[in-house]
Amino acid sequence: MNALRSVVLGCGSYLPEKTLTNKDLEQIVDTTDEWIVQRTGIQERHIAAEGEYTSDLGLKAAQAALANAGVDASSIDLIILATSTPDNTFPASATTIQAKLGITHGAAFDVQAVCSGFVYAVATADAYLRGGLAKRALVIGAETFSRILDWEDRTTCVLFGDGAGAVVMEVREGDAAEMGEGVLSSQLRSDGRHKDKLFVDGGPSTTQTAGHLRMEGKEVFKHAVGMVTDVIKAAFAATGTTADDLDWFVPHQANKRIIDASAKKLGIAPEKVVTTVQLHGNTSAASIPLALDSIVREGKVKKGDLVMLEAMGGGFTWGAVLLRW
Ligand code: UT7
Repeated sequence: MNALRSVVLGCGSYLPEKTLTNKDLEQIVDTTDEWIVQRTGIQERHIAAEGEYTSDLGLKAAQAALANAGVDASSIDLIILATSTPDNTFPASATTIQAKLGITHGAAFDVQAVCSGFVYAVATADAYLRGGLAKRALVIGAETFSRILDWEDRTTCVLFGDGAGAVVMEVREGDAAEMGEGVLSSQLRSDGRHKDKLFVDGGPSTTQTAGHLRMEGKEVFKHAVGMVTDVIKAAFAATGTTADDLDWFVPHQANKRIIDASAKKLGIAPEKVVTTVQLHGNTSAASIPLALDSIVREGKVKKGDLVMLEAMGGGFTWGAVLLRW
C-alpha cells in the first residue's frame, strides 16, 4: 500500500555576525564564564545587528535551505515560520519572508510554540503536505530573543541568543510498510497550567508592549527531561523503532545538561547526540534547524538515516518528530 510522506530536501541556517561571549556578559551582569559553562554549556551567543529583524534572519536561513535542496523559491507553495519574536505583532513575519523570496502564490503564516516551535512547524507542514494543501514547503525557525531579554536579569539574559534555521520539505508517495523516507511520526503536547514558569510579561492585548522574558529556570529544568523523553518514547512506539535504530538525536539546544540527561535516560549513544548550544545559546525555535544544519553541512547525515527532533518550552509545549532522511 502506498502512503504520502513529507520528505526533507535540504537544510540551511544563519547566525548574525556579532557574538557575545560569556566574558562579555561578565561586564554586563554579575556572572562568570565558569558558571555559564558549568550550568548550561553555553560559550557564546549571536546578537542581531541594529535594523536586522527576525524575518532577515529567517530569509537567510531559507535561502541557504533552498540552495542546499537545489530547488527554486518559485516552487514553494507553503511557508511556515516558527517564531515568538516576530518583526511586528502582525502581519506574520512568514509573509515578509515570502515577499522577499519573490513568492506571490501559496500560503505563509507563523506558528507560535516558543522553543517547541520548529517541531510544531514541521508537524504542521507534514499535515498540510500529506493533506494535499501544498506540495513543497519551507519550514523556518527564526528568533531575535536578544530583543525580549531583561539585560539586568542574570538568570535569563546569559541563556538566549538570536539565529535562524530552515528546511525544505516535499510530499512524495512511498511504501507505507517500509517506513522509508520522510516524517514517520509527530508527537505534539502542551499544558497551559505551566504558563507562569516561562513567559513574556507583555503583549498587544495586555500591556501594549513587547515585554521581557521571565523564567523559573529550575522549574523548567525539572519538567524538561521527563516531558521530552515521554514524547520521544511515543514516537518510537508509533513506529516500532528504538534508540538503537536512531542515527541522529537533534534536541532543542537550551542546556547541555538537559540534552545529556535526556539522551542518557533514553539510552541514546553520545556520538549520536548533536550539541551546538555552546555556539549560539538557546535560540528558541531556531535551535533545532541550527543543530541539524551543523551535521548536514559536515556531510554526516546520510540518506536513510533515522533522525529524532525534540523540544520543550514555554506554555509548556513539547514535542518530537521522527523522520527518515
Ligand atoms: O528553552 C526553554 C526551556 N528552557 C530551559 O530549558 C531552561 C531550563 N533551566 C535551566 O537550564 C537551568 O535551570 C538554568 C541554567 C536556568 C539555571 O541552572 P540551575 O542549576 O537550575 O541554577 P539555579 O537557578 O538553581 O541557580 C543556582 C545559583 C543561584 O544562587 P543561590 O541561590 O544558590 O545563591 C542563582 O542565583 O546560581 C545563581 N545564578 C547565577 N550565578 C551566576 C543564577 N544565574 C546566574 C548567573 N551567573 N548568570
